Amino acid sequence: MQILGLGTDIVEISRIASMIDRHADHFLDRTFSKSEIEYCSTKKNATQHYAGRWAAKEAVMKSFGTGFVKGIHWTEIEVISQPSGRPDVRLSGDTERFAADCGIAKILLSISHGKEYATATAIACSE
Ligand SMILES: CC(C)(COP(=O)(O)OP(=O)(O)OC[C@H]1O[C@@H](n2cnc3c(N)ncnc32)[C@H](O)[C@@H]1OP(=O)(O)O)[C@@H](O)C(=O)NCCC(=O)NCCS
Repeated sequence: MQILGLGTDIVEISRIASMIDRHADHFLDRTFSKSEIEYCSTKKNATQHYAGRWAAKEAVMKSFGTGFVKGIHWTEIEVISQPSGRPDVRLSGDTERFAADCGIAKILLSISHGKEYATATAIACSE
């Protein structure tokens, strides 16, 4: 296994809160998968967890080494939370194919959030 890319992102939680306020379900459905919404919406401070996942999606995209490219959809970069709380990345659709074309087989992810900011770091690995 070889490290192919590293990505990081930091998000102001208030920015995500205002997007949720202004666009509600439309924003959530366009950005997050069903299982991400299920996870975040059951938490005491849902916005922190949404912000962490937003940062994770940006970090994953940066780990591809290309930045945002046409054909990548936010919902196709999904954070799956293990029973321990550890976040894993699941890619699907065009985004999965794009990553495979870049030789990426696995992405390691870490998320953290405080009161004002959420941050995530992603490492893209080969087979
Ligand atoms: C995991 C832990 C280090 C998180 O640290 P924290 O300072 O409380 O919170 P942070 O904001 O920095 O990090 C939160 C993120 O850590 C990640 N995380 C949680 N558990 C994790 C684990 N076991 N391994 C790796 N990452 C983990 C998650 O992505 C979480 O964000 P999310 O819920 O939005 O996905 C801390 O809660 C801990 O050590 N817990 C002990 C184990 C525990 O309580 N387990 C309970 C479930 S069995």
